[in-house]
Amino acid sequence: MSSPLRILMTGVTGYIGGSILARFLEHPDFASFKITTLVRSPEKAEKIRALGVDAVVGSHNDSELMQSLTASNDVVFSTTDSDDHEAIIATLKGMKKRHDATGSVPILIHTSGTGFLIDDAKGLYATETIYDDLKSDQINALPDTQFHRNIDLEILRADEAGYIKSYIVLPSTIWGISDGPLVKKGIQNPISMQVPQLIRASLARGRAGMVGEGKNIWPDVNIDEVADLYVVLFNAIRANHNGVAHGREGYFFGESGEHTMYEVAKAIGEALVALGKSDNPEPSTFTKEEVDKYLGVSYFPTTYSVWKFSWTPNVTASHCHSVHVLQGSDYLGTNSRCSGNRPRALGWKPVKTKDDFLASIRAEVEYQINISK
Ligand SMILES: NC(=O)c1ccc[n+]([C@@H]2O[C@H](COP(=O)([O-])OP(=O)(O)OC[C@H]3O[C@@H](n4cnc5c(N)ncnc54)[C@H](OP(=O)(O)O)[C@@H]3O)[C@@H](O)[C@H]2O)c1
Repeated sequence: MSSPLRILMTGVTGYIGGSILARFLEHPDFASFKITTLVRSPEKAEKIRALGVDAVVGSHNDSELMQSLTASNDVVFSTTDSDDHEAIIATLKGMKKRHDATGSVPILIHTSGTGFLIDDAKGLYATETIYDDLKSDQINALPDTQFHRNIDLEILRADEAGYIKSYIVLPSTIWGISDGPLVKKGIQNPISMQVPQLIRASLARGRAGMVGEGKNIWPDVNIDEVADLYVVLFNAIRANHNGVAHGREGYFFGESGEHTMYEVAKAIGEALVALGKSDNPEPSTFTKEEVDKYLGVSYFPTTYSVWKFSWTPNVTASHCHSVHVLQGSDYLGTNSRCSGNRPRALGWKPVKTKDDFLASIRAEVEYQINISK
């Protein structure tokens, strides 16, 4: 009997990671995998073990633990934090140890994001620039200072050195309230980041808001279809790893439509009116004070507490594993446009459209109203 494929997944209590693990639970080859997860909550670890998946309790910032976990797996899915430098260094060190000890080249499927592509539009214009993941030179020409890039560059260097093969997945605005098995068992966060944040801000001010005029454009993609992308990629690498681009060519954009921020804000405004939370469906521009209060801080860690739940800039750089200074807090006023042709070439077939996305927003507003009660 051949030995099982050893897979490490981080972030499985999260929106993206939990959706990927849910797909693996129904993977036809599940029985031939030895999946280990890293989670912080002992209670959730227990629930994950009941699914037939190993769970180690700890933090990705425990370097010794991360190194030992990554050193003992063939494939690593990293979906905790696209900006945690400490975690990626420990991950790569562990993967190098595996390579040195076995001669194998472990696989890293890392989650970055199309925030990598952003400009400084402040909601005032739509860019014409569309990045194509089949044109890696266009992507690699972006400045090293772009968001997420410091992490991605560490990964690319490891791939170039030959001790890993790296595949960087860049989801865009992921949407949809996940209702998969891990959500039902109370393991997984069911909601995304950008739209819930915009909804919470809009609820707090009693009217939908946008940065500038909301003319900026972002891509969007449904959570289930993002999970599909990871599985399509994983299956393609397993089937023929020489046939899948990696390293400086191995970018995989997750997008299936695009929207202006005005369209999203308008959908939020209409839902607020329909649900009795506002008397005006028309979005208005966030003031500078509102941007600072509701849309984050100049420091932009993607840690759970700050980005998702806190409207108060109550963190300092010392609380953040990695810190990115963006232009003020105008992230939701940036452009990020791309075409995910590389995952489509592997067989990924997302079908959800912008209209599906906009139609999903009312349920997101209801969700936020319910949890605020
Ligand atoms: N959602 C999107 O639209 C989107 C799009 C593109 C890129 N991304 C990026 O993808 C990453 C994951 O996003 P998400 O939406 O899945 O976020 P999420 O729902 O907040 O999930 C984050 C996951 O990481 C875990 N985690 C955080 N810090 C950890 C630590 N120190 N040690 C171990 N586990 C830790 C969390 O565990 P706990 O349950 O213990 O907190 C959770 O499982 C983020 O960096 C995000 O910026 C997200």
